[in-house]
Amino acid sequence: MKRYIILSLTCLLFFSGISAQDITLPVPQIEGGLPLMQALSKRQTLRTFSSKELDVQTLSNLLWAANGFNRSDKRTAPTAMNRQELEIYVVLSTGAYWHDAKNNVLMQKSTEDLRALTGKQDFVATAPLNIIIVADTEKQAGKEYQYIDAGYISQNIYLFCASEGLATVVRGMVDREVLAKALNFSDTQAIVVVQTVGYQQ
Ligand SMILES: Cc1cc2nc3c(=O)[nH]c(=O)nc-3n(C[C@H](O)[C@H](O)[C@H](O)COP(=O)(O)O)c2cc1C
Repeated sequence: MKRYIILSLTCLLFFSGISAQDITLPVPQIEGGLPLMQALSKRQTLRTFSSKELDVQTLSNLLWAANGFNRSDKRTAPTAMNRQELEIYVVLSTGAYWHDAKNNVLMQKSTEDLRALTGKQDFVATAPLNIIIVADTEKQAGKEYQYIDAGYISQNIYLFCASEGLATVVRGMVDREVLAKALNFSDTQAIVVVQTVGYQQ
């Protein structure tokens, strides 16, 4: 019986395309949070992070705020010509994941702890979450738009963190070549910026 259950679960995961290491996030909670003017009042960069992990509900809410679907085919952040060229990768202590925003699943891309490679500042290695904003250069309307479009996502993250009392810093200081290699990125995947998130220390 036990063998049958394990076999059924394995088949289910295989046919649903979800591997055992992927993380299915809970449905994002899109009610609540601070009123916009209060969140804007608290928006700031903070660079001291506790190593405490974010819970999955907070992670789900954060990723929805960052660049989730708020309509059937459009997102919380705008993009030039609606190209939706930006993807989010998250780097946790347990590995690196692509956020499948449609299905709200973190698809594992690496089982290694790559946090130290996400930047040149010490806190990146111990903060619980580093978000990588990646442009698909084949989708984008023009190179200049990848920077503008990433800015909206980054600000969404800033405002979510302000609302939730989390610390965050967007970072341009990152060795893009090293990080892209560690994540096996193709030539058409360009790292725009990285953003660290965690509880304030
Ligand atoms: C495009 C961009 C790149 C940045 N890169 C870094 C960085 O690599 N490291 C860092 O500590 N802060 C970085 N920052 C954060 C800025 O230093 C910070 O936003 C600025 O000092 C203003 O502070 P505030 O965000 O609290 O208003 C960056 C900000 C932006 C917009």
